[in-house]
Amino acid sequence: MEFQQVIEARRAYRSLDPFPITPELIADLGRAASLSASCFNNQPWRFVFVHGAESLEALKGCLNPGNEWARDASMIVAVCSRPDLDCRTQGRDYYLFDSGMGTAFLILLATDRGLVAHPIAGYDEGKAKAVLGVPADLTLITLVIMGLHQPDLKPSLNEKQRAMEAERPARRAPAEFVFHDRWPA
Ligand SMILES: Cc1cc2nc3c(=O)[nH]c(=O)nc-3n(C[C@H](O)[C@H](O)[C@H](O)COP(=O)(O)O)c2cc1C
Repeated sequence: MEFQQVIEARRAYRSLDPFPITPELIADLGRAASLSASCFNNQPWRFVFVHGAESLEALKGCLNPGNEWARDASMIVAVCSRPDLDCRTQGRDYYLFDSGMGTAFLILLATDRGLVAHPIAGYDEGKAKAVLGVPADLTLITLVIMGLHQPDLKPSLNEKQRAMEAERPARRAPAEFVFHDRWPA
């Protein structure tokens, strides 16, 4: 896909079918994330690619109500980091920003491969960290839910989610967030 097409094709779809997980795919997703920029090249992101049947099932047990659709995931990428893995300068911590950048690269590569890679915040962090053995001092920033888009909507989607599937949620007009030369008066 052309790059602009990848950007346009990325959606947080929730109607998911299974797809085969290969070591090559995981290597490519990790490589894409690793090529992202990070403060002082600290690369603060840590990814747990969860695809084994038992681990995947246990992690799905940590989803919040409303995220039942994510039970159809073939793989879930747990994105973790810690403040001291990245720059802390003038009171600004960069670990979340840089991990988000790396995750965006991973998501865009998955999109280019025809996959859905949908980040979520709706899970029990403590429970998920325990299930995955993630040390307590790391933040589990997001779970990226991966599957193949199924246009015939799965029954796990609620009414609102069914509507969002058909059409991308509206975006703010650029005039609300694009400013020129200085902050608007
Ligand atoms: C940090 C973050 C947390 C999110 N959490 C959830 C979630 O818990 N459940 C869900 O269904 N979607 C979640 N989403 C997806 C957003 O709802 C979705 O990206 C947004 O509505 C825009 O739709 P689009 O990505 O299809 O353009 C999350 C997205 C992000 C970036």
